[in-house]
Amino acid sequence: MKGTAFEKKALDDINLKIKDGEIVGIIGHTGSGKSTLIQHFNGLLKPSYGNVSIDSNQTNKINQVGIVFQQPEYQLFEDNVYNDIAYGLKKKDTPIEIIDKKINEIMKIVGLSNDVLNKSPFELSGGQKKRVAMAGILILEPKILVLDEPAAGLDPQGREDIYRLIQNLHKEKKITIILVSHSMEDIVTLVDRLIVMNDGKIEMDGTIKQVFENLNRLENIGLKAPQIRYFMRELKKLIPNLNENIFTVKEAKEEIRKFL
Ligand SMILES: Nc1ncnc2c1ncn2[C@@H]1O[C@H](COP(=O)(O)OP(=O)(O)OP(=O)(O)O)[C@@H](O)[C@H]1O
Ligand SMILES: [Mg+2]
Repeated sequence: MKGTAFEKKALDDINLKIKDGEIVGIIGHTGSGKSTLIQHFNGLLKPSYGNVSIDSNQTNKINQVGIVFQQPEYQLFEDNVYNDIAYGLKKKDTPIEIIDKKINEIMKIVGLSNDVLNKSPFELSGGQKKRVAMAGILILEPKILVLDEPAAGLDPQGREDIYRLIQNLHKEKKITIILVSHSMEDIVTLVDRLIVMNDGKIEMDGTIKQVFENLNRLENIGLKAPQIRYFMRELKKLIPNLNENIFTVKEAKEEIRKFL
């Protein structure tokens, strides 16, 4: 609603480069602009000022970006799951035998049974919808995969499965991954770099260590480090030489072992 009294800057002064093959996390409080930001990555939203480019030139490579939305309902609109997953391939006139083969493969990858193919996407559970939405994107073999809260609403096993899948895609297929998540515990085990959003701006951009070292700054914008960081802070009161700057359970175990 540009030019009206309702105009609101959802994003402001964003300057961001993501390297080929990186796995980057985006965190930030509710309404900080994460979803708005990632919708610029495939041209779904256009910046009022500035530009978005892929592969350092301005050619349109936007179709190499696959986005799995926060609300899968927004990308499921066909009468059955098969047609939803096949949608992108059909648009590219892919022969039906190839579509069938790819769907078979992708169902295994996202952990869905072929029984759901004939169901309406709206008959599925939240977790299943998420997997269907992911399948519809992955089947197009994007070079850059953007996931907005991929594990939201999944049970612990489902979260683990999705994260393992993301890690495999990154490691084996060398896909560039941009992951939006509210869960600090999850994000620290997955990404190399973290971008912290606050009120439509990039507040911090660095390695996990760089971002979480500055606890006060994070807390001032409504975020928290993973729980283990606070546990280490408490433990340091008992073991003064302990390194409290630790963000994963695995690192914590190694650190505590030094004092046993
Ligand atoms: N369609 C829209 N029209 C007007 N304002 C919007 C629209 N979508 C989002 N906004 C506003 O843009 C800002 C950023 O919203 P966005 O959805 O990007 O936040 P977010 O960081 O993804 O939040 P969450 O963690 O809750 O998903 C918010 O102030 C929101 O109110
Ligand atoms: Mg969002």
